[in-house]
Amino acid sequence: MTMNTSQPDDGGQAEVRKGLAGVVADVTAISKVDPETNSLLYRGYPVQDLAATQPFEAVAWLLWHGELPTADELAGLRATEREHRALADDVRAAIDLLPVSAHPMDELRTAVSVVGAREVAGLSALDAAADPEETVARAGRLFAALPAVVAYGQRRRRGLDVVEARDDLDFSANLLWMTFGTEPEPVVVDAFNRSMILYAEHSFNASTFTARVVTSTLADVHSAVVAAIAALKGPLHGGANEAVMETLAEIGAADRVAAWLDDALARKRKIMGFGHRVYKHGDSRVPTMKAALDTLVEHYDRPDLGDLYAALESEFVARKGIYPNLDYPSGPAYHLMGFDTATFTPLFVAARVTGWTAHVAEQQAANSLIRPLSEYVGPARREVPRRL
Ligand code: ACO
Repeated sequence: MTMNTSQPDDGGQAEVRKGLAGVVADVTAISKVDPETNSLLYRGYPVQDLAATQPFEAVAWLLWHGELPTADELAGLRATEREHRALADDVRAAIDLLPVSAHPMDELRTAVSVVGAREVAGLSALDAAADPEETVARAGRLFAALPAVVAYGQRRRRGLDVVEARDDLDFSANLLWMTFGTEPEPVVVDAFNRSMILYAEHSFNASTFTARVVTSTLADVHSAVVAAIAALKGPLHGGANEAVMETLAEIGAADRVAAWLDDALARKRKIMGFGHRVYKHGDSRVPTMKAALDTLVEHYDRPDLGDLYAALESEFVARKGIYPNLDYPSGPAYHLMGFDTATFTPLFVAARVTGWTAHVAEQQAANSLIRPLSEYVGPARREVPRRL
């Protein structure tokens, strides 16, 4: 971290904190990350307990409203979710304009732009911003619409047509159904549901902070989500789950880990799925996702992948003392479920849209324009040369 005492652009004294590391930018009541106790709480509830007991829809409600839903509230949310599940014609048409080789994060960003433009059509920018209550209503419709986009992206790349949503399935099972067109097995639905809950929220991470910055200008929730998707695409953030699978495929087998790491570290490569800005002794979400991965390794009879996973983890931790983050177990878990590697980060979006939009509503409720200062290090004042 670079710290420097100098003259910022308002003329006062300031400390430059590169990457905003260690900066507390605002308060939040949505989640608490505590690296000391290695815990993550959503509205006070430990995330691993939520993952073990709740459907993802209930956690979405919790993030938006602050309390777990009553039976009636959950039924209401599920009814709304089912109502907005289908792939809308305008969204499909916009995706079809993109090359089939387009990254699915670009498809998702486009889809949210289309949905957002439709939601606020005819409104001025000021009216489009809405209040927290309307934002949560829009968020519910957006969260319902995204699985069809994720599923269509994977199917389009494989030359397959849309699978219609099924009303008898919950959020997680329906996403799997729309992607694969086969009845999802309960063990897979359970692992997937856990991953959605673990990915749903993580305080002021880069994409959430991006959403809050956009919201602070009084832009609407879909604009904030488009920007958040852009931030999540990067391999230092959400894109890491995709990169993990590429790394595991490149290594190929457990007995090749040591030699591969020798070479990768000599070339100063970042090992994707390891390290975290906040957690320095392990990511609180990893044990829950690792247990889900273990179940899938057994279910799909893929001990080779389990061995490779364990070998890279133990070798890298032993050499660098840097621990896995959530993307490390979720990458191979999604791979075993049958998702293309390029679909992994869009799955992260399908989950994190709940956290992002909860933060948008929270920012709207107590807004202050986010506008930090900078320290100028360019040339001192000088004369503009005369034109030749
Ligand atoms: N592989 C190799 N070295 C690493 C890794 C890694 N994955 N992570 C950290 N380091 C090293 C850095 O090279 C640096 O070494 P140095 O001091 O010798 O230069 C030191 O550890 C500190 O690393 P920073 O990058 O400064 O730590 P920071 O807190 O800024 O970064 C980050 C955190 C970006 C997540 C980093 O660990 C990383 O790039 N990891 C790989 C990408 C990844 O998995 N991202 C997912 C994040 S979690 C999520 O989105 C769910």
